Amino acid sequence: MNLLRGLSCRVSRLEPLKHKTTFKMGGRAKFFCQPKTIKDLKLLTALAKKSNLPVFILGAGSNILVSDKGVNGLVLQLSSRCFRKIAVKGNYLEAGAGIMLGELIKKSLQNNLSGLEFAAGIPGTLGGALAMNAGAWGKNIGNLVTEATVMDYNGNIKNLKKNRIKFKYRRSSLAKYIILGASLKLTKKNKDKIKAAINKYLSFRRSLQDCSFPNAGCVFKNPSGKSAGRLIDLCGLKGKNIGGAFISLRHANFILNRANASSDEVLKLMGLIKSKVRHKFKVNLEPEIKIWN
Ligand code: EPU
Repeated sequence: MNLLRGLSCRVSRLEPLKHKTTFKMGGRAKFFCQPKTIKDLKLLTALAKKSNLPVFILGAGSNILVSDKGVNGLVLQLSSRCFRKIAVKGNYLEAGAGIMLGELIKKSLQNNLSGLEFAAGIPGTLGGALAMNAGAWGKNIGNLVTEATVMDYNGNIKNLKKNRIKFKYRRSSLAKYIILGASLKLTKKNKDKIKAAINKYLSFRRSLQDCSFPNAGCVFKNPSGKSAGRLIDLCGLKGKNIGGAFISLRHANFILNRANASSDEVLKLMGLIKSKVRHKFKVNLEPEIKIWN
């Protein structure tokens, strides 16, 4: 309680998370806060530790399925100004974890810097993208990182150079920390070429993926050398639904919240997909989205 007194942000109780995720479903967070400063972040993590409360970091909520029962912990969102700083230093972009990838792409375009075009249309924050090594079209954010600033859950801040960070397919060693920001190495390029690449990736996204209803992007990871979407498609599951949760007709690895779906319906549909794919292809699909409960 004493710790709470030093905070410059408000901690809310039983905060609905539904509208903080792109899936638009799920329950409430026991506690929710948007820290305004690093000091807030330190106080909040100390408080959570003292109260034995798990901490969840929310980015833009674009890769998360919040359980209908909600989250029995402290959800922190680094959306305050302090976590959304951005600076261009030569060919490097230094940015806070809370900044949206779209803003980063805009900034790099303004400065004739190329490298982030592949991420056009990914609806996430830099922090989220770093935690899961977001990628598309054969490229990923990890390849651009030269350094990251993180905080561990004891409040210690560290600068990690590239050689101390591991990035794998949709995985990164940064996920065990609270990511505060990173430095990305880009390359100078002609603005029109950067713009053309952004438009190309956006149109790939529009034609291949399905954002006609709230969703969380690809639901399962691609098994080594295979496409989860293709395997689900070959099981004849496109259009299948459980309640308001539907498998997209356009891309079988997308589940759409077409009619007020519950998280439970999505989980049931994921269970059905997993068992059909396991039965037909002997492949065990792993969720790509993070399930919070
Ligand atoms: N395919 C089908 N049926 C489908 C979906 C796909 O046959 O219903 C086939 C496609 O025709 C293609 C292959 O499967 O031959 C691969 O599909 P696609 O090119 O759409 O890519 P993906 O492997 O399904 C991955 C990432 C996407 C990323 C795209 C573009 C994963 C799980 N997915 O999708 O990332 O945008 O490549 O690079 O790694 C995400 O992370 O949320 C995401 C959507």
